[in-house]
Amino acid sequence: MDNPALILGIETSCDETAAAVVRRDPDGSGTIVSNVVRSQIAEHEAFGGVVPELAARSHVIHLDAIIQAALDEAGVGFDDLSAIAATAGPGLIGGVLVGLTTAKALSSATGKPLIAINHLEAHALTARLTDGVEFPYLMLLVSGGHSQFVLVKGVGSYERWGTTIDDALGEAFDKAAKLLGLGYPGGPAVEAAAASGDGTRFALPRPLLKEDRLDFSFSGLKTALRLAAESVAPVNSQDISDLCASFQAAVTDIVAARSRKALERFSARFPGFPARFVVAGGVAANRAIGAALRDVADAAGAHLIVPPPALCTDNGAMVAWAGAERFALGVRDDFGVIARPRWPLDETIVEATA
Ligand code: KG4
Ligand code: ZN
Repeated sequence: MDNPALILGIETSCDETAAAVVRRDPDGSGTIVSNVVRSQIAEHEAFGGVVPELAARSHVIHLDAIIQAALDEAGVGFDDLSAIAATAGPGLIGGVLVGLTTAKALSSATGKPLIAINHLEAHALTARLTDGVEFPYLMLLVSGGHSQFVLVKGVGSYERWGTTIDDALGEAFDKAAKLLGLGYPGGPAVEAAAASGDGTRFALPRPLLKEDRLDFSFSGLKTALRLAAESVAPVNSQDISDLCASFQAAVTDIVAARSRKALERFSARFPGFPARFVVAGGVAANRAIGAALRDVADAAGAHLIVPPPALCTDNGAMVAWAGAERFALGVRDDFGVIARPRWPLDETIVEATA
């Protein structure tokens, strides 16, 4: 393709209402022209987690203005766009419907092509926007909804190497925080409390670690944390810090050990090729986990790429970029495309079980 493409991206699959405009130049490089995100954290805080119905209603209320803000910030109108991309799943179905239906309406009204995006693909391809990473690479996605290792071979070409059999890692942080009476979202609260805690005080389990697979399990850890808290009840603030530090130490060990194994598998599959290891999702912001992943990557001679936090968490730019990559390959979707609550990146995958 000879001309730059200008893509509008819409993201509404969880609790961020987001829209962005991204440009893709013919050499394959990308530029974020605007990126507007409205977090719903304040609306869900009182419930200690995202309430799907509230999220969907809030997307309905705010999405039009967010899209307009993204266009205004980019200084463009609908006429200037090459295509309109929106997350079509996986995610909270009410929210996904709001974004996808809006994109269909805009596409219908403007005549601009529609591109339906898998949210996981958007996370997976972000490192190509930020760092120009070339295929193939290994991605670890650790967010509130997902904990997966994915071999990214090309646009639309993925192998899922591991996933969680119960809670996602961010969800485990959120549940730990709720259990200990800390705020929502839990990850940052647990990390802050852990900073002044002793991570060796409570011996928490490292589920599945002895098994030769790349799956995660975090629900047993949550139960162990509850039992540890009960064993010292009533908890004081030092107990809470020690519990958080012990929890964080356990999940850091798990993520590091699994990543070591995943990188070994990558190197065996692509011998003589320096492994590229991309980390995405909100949990990538955790400094203890980040430091451990850096050590693992260094020891394996792998190149670690962590996009900036604002692009690791949910946003419209990643959706626009995935749209741009698909647009460049000639992909267009028709209005029959549906919103999907579940949509594995690797359609051949069999769900992991205990
Ligand atoms: O990617 P994200 O913004 O949203 C989706 O789930 O798609 O991830 C949010 C998750 C929440 O569960 C939050 O607790 C977790 O990322 N998180 C963290 C940290 N910051 C956010 N977990 C651990 N440590 C952090 N510093
Ligand atoms: Zn996400």
